[in-house]
Amino acid sequence: MCGIVGYVGPREAQPLLLGGLRRLEYRGYDSAGVAIQHDGTLSVTRAEGKLDNLANALHRNALAGTTGIGHTRWATHGRPTEHNAHPHVDCGSVTAVIHNGIIENFAALKAPLQRSGHSFTSDTDTEVVVHLVEDQLTAGRSLEEAALVVLPKLEGAAALAFVSASDPDKIVAARISNAGGVIVGYGEGENFIASDMTALIEHTRSVSFLEAGEVAVVTRDAVRFYRLDGTRIEKTVSKVTGDPIAAAKSGYKHFMAKEIHEQPRAISDTLLGRVDRATGRVLFDENLRLTDELVRAIPRITFVACGTAYHAALIGKYLVERLARIPCDADIASEYRYREPIVTEGQLVVAVTQSGETVDTLAAMEEGRKRGARLLTIVNVVGSEASRVSDDVIFLHTGPEIAVASTKAYTAMLVDLYLFAIYLAQRRGTIVPELAGKLLAEAFHLPTLMDAVLGEESKIKALAHRYHQARDFLYLGRGVNYPTALEGALKLKELSYIHAEGTAGGEMKHGINALIDEHMPVVAIALRDSTYRKMVSNIEEVRARAGVVIALAHDDDEEIGGTTEEVIRIPRTNELLSPALAVVPLQLLAYHISDRRGNDVDQPRNLAKSVTVE
Ligand code: AGP
Repeated sequence: MCGIVGYVGPREAQPLLLGGLRRLEYRGYDSAGVAIQHDGTLSVTRAEGKLDNLANALHRNALAGTTGIGHTRWATHGRPTEHNAHPHVDCGSVTAVIHNGIIENFAALKAPLQRSGHSFTSDTDTEVVVHLVEDQLTAGRSLEEAALVVLPKLEGAAALAFVSASDPDKIVAARISNAGGVIVGYGEGENFIASDMTALIEHTRSVSFLEAGEVAVVTRDAVRFYRLDGTRIEKTVSKVTGDPIAAAKSGYKHFMAKEIHEQPRAISDTLLGRVDRATGRVLFDENLRLTDELVRAIPRITFVACGTAYHAALIGKYLVERLARIPCDADIASEYRYREPIVTEGQLVVAVTQSGETVDTLAAMEEGRKRGARLLTIVNVVGSEASRVSDDVIFLHTGPEIAVASTKAYTAMLVDLYLFAIYLAQRRGTIVPELAGKLLAEAFHLPTLMDAVLGEESKIKALAHRYHQARDFLYLGRGVNYPTALEGALKLKELSYIHAEGTAGGEMKHGINALIDEHMPVVAIALRDSTYRKMVSNIEEVRARAGVVIALAHDDDEEIGGTTEEVIRIPRTNELLSPALAVVPLQLLAYHISDRRGNDVDQPRNLAKSVTVE
């Protein structure tokens, strides 16, 4: 969750660290800080709240020096105050540490340090590490020797980085578990570290990824790698592609607005090169290594994911069962990892994740692997942990998603799951070529339909302004659009802080009807598909109880206007593809309600983009 950056080289570190932190601010934004080492001293500046507070503090009092580390925090242990912000320093302010993750045994480590006279200034789990390192440096060890003594004592999930005035011009970075990545970036006479590529890409595309249990010793001219037991290792250097300009707001008020509007292009990019024009078959690139024989033998697929990605997984289950006739489950990753799941031979565990760094999803994958499953990941971030531990990968190709609320990655997930279901169906012979051709043609038409929905934004904005003061919302859907109701409710909750619930229309009579009154808007996804009649009945039931209905309907549906005044209209597409279109107005509704309420749309309270702690 927290963001980590580091620089060692000839240039002033402060602006480089701040620039890196700006790109990582979406990972955590309750406090931030930098530590810069210069001429035998270490200077630290930290600030509570958004990164601008740190930038202002550094503007008032700049830190000189060309080696430093920076951190943006998402609090786990200790309130988000300045004294809990990273970097943390030892008793003599000689050495500093930054950390992403949780040190589970920190209390056991802290007690003897306190007894031997170390004084602690924060409530964090992290501070214990720098005091342990201090003891080792005092005993005459180098920074990496000290780290290699201390790191094996830590239990839990962590990525860490150290600088010390007692061992200048050096960063020691480590990754002690699968959660919390560390990337080393190579420059000319300078080197970098960061928790993700976003912070590095404007400086270098040559990188090495630390695996769990690995340590990097980074100086301006060289990088050495070790395992935690002190064994020296060599790492490969990877070249990363990507477009740094795509991460800027491009004139939009928020990243989220930009990302919502990027969806037609993102879907086109996702579809690019994925259908063989000659055979009409879906093709994925060399990252998908499943053979036709393996595909035919798959007995079951389990999708694992969290949050919005879990909603995509629910739709994936629906699509694969419908088209490829393979039994599927969709599991919340944090549940799957602890429920002793049954895995049969040939079973596929499919992780769906934008970041590829979500700790519960990674743990669910590990659980599946341990029980013998083959791992496939549908993921946006190239080089992410999920992409590296999987047997097969389908990349979303949507470009960086910066806003905490996922939008374009979600619709790209839906399109990739749709393609994946057709791919499986074609290889298992459960789809006739005519139907596959029709479904694929409709996918290629989706960006145009999305453009049409985005063209209706002003109407959705007006609707948002009419309802922005509601205290509760209910979202109703059925069939393949039941997860769309869940996703609409999640978008509203996370952005507007309005309580919202998503439910299957069929569940209304089983309890939810009790909530209906004239104060609660009910968003009913009532598309002309196999569930239309049932959804109209749900709308009637809500209206009969004086409920306010906002219907999401097809643009040629004349009947729906007779049931309610508030109608959001979208063009028709086939039922299986409809969730990717139906969610767009729900994203816009949540966005405009949040903006109207004056919330921080891109960085909602208490959330972070990459959830790398449990
Ligand atoms: C989406 O709007 C949320 N911020 C969140 O639910 C997110 O989808 C979830 O944390 C999973 O993230 P991932 O796709 O990076 O694994």
